[in-house]
Amino acid sequence: MHRLSIGMFDSGVGGLTVLKEVKALLPHERIIYFGDTARLPYGNKSPQTVTKYALESALFLLTKGIKLLVVACNTSSAFALNILQKKLPVPVIGVIDPGALEAVGHTKNGRIGVIGTKGTIRSMAYERSIKKISPGAVVISRPCPLFVPIVEEGLEDDEVAYLMAEKYLKELKRSDIDVLVMGCTHYPALEKVIKKVMGKKITIVHTGRETAKEVRNTLEKKRLLNDKAKGGCEYFVTDAPEAFEEIGGRLLGERLTRVKSLRNLDFKDFLLSS
Ligand code: DGL
Repeated sequence: MHRLSIGMFDSGVGGLTVLKEVKALLPHERIIYFGDTARLPYGNKSPQTVTKYALESALFLLTKGIKLLVVACNTSSAFALNILQKKLPVPVIGVIDPGALEAVGHTKNGRIGVIGTKGTIRSMAYERSIKKISPGAVVISRPCPLFVPIVEEGLEDDEVAYLMAEKYLKELKRSDIDVLVMGCTHYPALEKVIKKVMGKKITIVHTGRETAKEVRNTLEKKRLLNDKAKGGCEYFVTDAPEAFEEIGGRLLGERLTRVKSLRNLDFKDFLLSS
C-alpha cells in the first residue's frame, strides 16, 4: 500500500505550488497531479459546480490507485472537503485546516487576515476553521480575484501586481492583523509583493507548506509513508497541456515533463467504470 502514489488535484496549474512543497518534504513519494484546465477557474463558480468537479477529479485519481488525496485547490477544499472525506476510501487532506492551524499558531493579537478567491472567501471556510481552533480570533477576509491571472500571465514582478496588491490589501493593512493567510494556490508566487505591501511585521502563511506537513504526518500515522523509493510526478490535464507546462514550469521552477492531455476525457465514462 505505501508504494502507491499520492493523488493531488486542482482547477489547473496553481496547485503546483502545493505539489512543490509536498515534493520537497517527501522526495521519495510518487505524485499523480490532476489539473482541470478545461474547466478552470473554480474561484468564481457555485459550490454545487465546484463540488461536482471535485468529485469527478477525485474519482479519476482513484482509478489510478492512490493511497491519499490532497485537495490542493482552496476553493475545492472550501466547498467539497467534507463530502470527499465522507465518500472516498483513502485519507483526504485539504489546504484550509493546515493553513488555519499555522495562522493561529503565529498570531499574537488574535487578528488574522485571509485572502483567496471569491468562492473561498464567500464560503467562510477559513473563518470556521480558525475559530474552531481559537474561538476568540478575529478573521478579516478579502477576495483578490485578479491575482490569479496576474500570476498566470507571469506578471508577478510587474508594476501591475504591486498596484493590485495595494488596492486589494488596503483595508487589511489598516485592520491591525498580524498574520495573513495566502488562501489561494497562486498567491505564493506573489509573496514578495504581498510582503512589500503588508510590511515586515505581518507573518505570511503559505498554506501549501503547511499542507505538506499534514500529508507527511498522515502518511506516517497510517504507515503509508514511502521513504526509500525513487519519487516522481506525473501530470494529467483536461486541456491545454502546453500552457500548463509553460506556467507550471515557472511555478515549480523546473521544466515540466510527463504532462498527459485528457482532452477527450468524458467523466461519465470513467464514473461508471470506477
Ligand atoms: N486553485 C484555485 C484556488 O486555490 C485558484 C484558481 C481558480 O480560481 O480556479 O482557489
